[in-house]
Amino acid sequence: MDSTPRDGATRAGWGSRIGVILAAAGSAVGLGNFLRFPGQAAKHGGGAFMLPYFISLLVLGIPLAWAEWTMGRYAGVRGYHSAPGIFRVLLRHHAAKYLGVVALLIPFIVYTYYVVVEAWCLIYALHYATGDLMRGDDPGQYAAFFGRLTGATAEGSVFGGGDGLTLLGVVALCFALNLYLIVRGLSRGIEAFCKVAIPGLAVLATIVLVRVLLLGTPDPSKPSQSIEAGLGFMWNPRAEALFDPETWLAASGQIFFSLSVGFGVLVHYASYLRKKDDVALSALTANSMNELFEVCLGGLITIPAAFVFLGAIDPGTLESSFKLGFVTLPNVFAMMWGGRVFGFLWFFCLFIAAITSSVSMLQPVMVFFQEGTGMSRRRAAALLGVLCAVGSGIVLYFSKGLVALDTFDFWMGTVGIFVLATVQAVLYGWVFGIERGHEELHRGAHIKVPFVVQIGLKYVVPVYLLVIFAAFCVKNLP
Ligand code: PHE
Repeated sequence: MDSTPRDGATRAGWGSRIGVILAAAGSAVGLGNFLRFPGQAAKHGGGAFMLPYFISLLVLGIPLAWAEWTMGRYAGVRGYHSAPGIFRVLLRHHAAKYLGVVALLIPFIVYTYYVVVEAWCLIYALHYATGDLMRGDDPGQYAAFFGRLTGATAEGSVFGGGDGLTLLGVVALCFALNLYLIVRGLSRGIEAFCKVAIPGLAVLATIVLVRVLLLGTPDPSKPSQSIEAGLGFMWNPRAEALFDPETWLAASGQIFFSLSVGFGVLVHYASYLRKKDDVALSALTANSMNELFEVCLGGLITIPAAFVFLGAIDPGTLESSFKLGFVTLPNVFAMMWGGRVFGFLWFFCLFIAAITSSVSMLQPVMVFFQEGTGMSRRRAAALLGVLCAVGSGIVLYFSKGLVALDTFDFWMGTVGIFVLATVQAVLYGWVFGIERGHEELHRGAHIKVPFVVQIGLKYVVPVYLLVIFAAFCVKNLP
């Protein structure tokens, strides 16, 4: 494996500053915002989750994003764009490139199951568009539909025909779309798409939000089944869960997953910036956009809407974030005027948000094939296509029902990323160096970031991560 840059094809760049910000926001805004976040919040007691969540955002998320953007641009200016090369130039050691390979594997593995959920969203959107969903008013139809789609029920399995075949076809379609955007090149593919998708998403999701909030209290005799009750659950802080290390682990895992921090994606995107392109304000802007989508749209739609239908969310019985999105929400759409249109809009939004994220998981792998082996873009895309098919094939095979997906997500989305983020923090704070980091961060910057952020990155971040992780391990020891 050679991590020396050599190929003109990888020397592409971003077209504009707003373009790179929207592409980074596109990577960040995804299923994590609309499904994973409400699911995690529900699982960890709603309001109890929000305090560790915001602390993780300020102490870990934003500082680590700055570190990634800084290191990415630094390596990119020296001609390295893929994680193995980037790690090598930062660590100045040959063996470092193997660490980079691990950094490529995690987003790739996440992709293999993420794309399956992406396909579910498209299937739901299409079924709303054709009117196949919402036939009659049997509240059980959504659970049955989702069961067939995920192979959880006896009459359907992913390879067993019917909805299963549809799923395979749609997953293949999603592959094709992802690869198409990547093969078009950075600015003509990902950037051009995100420039339309992110503003469009903001408008469409806001329309759904307004409709959901207007539900208010549909039946005054059942005050617990209301938007207000859902908002209360989501925003009233509760102390108990704060003493559970798992809440803290889940909160930081959610921050990493949602901001796409620690996955090697942001370093890669930033590696296409020029020496004096701003990173400080761009990273902050992309992260702020992500939080708006997550807290104001994801957080205000899913849980309050679920309350209107369920009247309560019992953290113990919540099977997974997926059921909230794919079974409970359709039941809420079924209750509302214009439900079919809003159902379509919601799942179409999820699909678009998912695409702008999934391309960012594959793009670094594609560039690695080109940069590391000198493969042409087409060949690299073909190889990537084969790997995706094998990876997602394995996921689909094992994912009858939701348990496997949830488990996958826990190990990759929470634990794996945790380890990678810790490595990155140590790499930045102790090898790259915070003085150099501070100087690099401010080259061409439009804002001034206080030095205390660097001190936090060097000392607080690794300790914070290790303490949570250790506490979690101790709690779960047999
Ligand atoms: N941030 C994306 C989301 O919220 C997921 C993602 C993870 C994207 C890792 C890139 C890398 O859905």
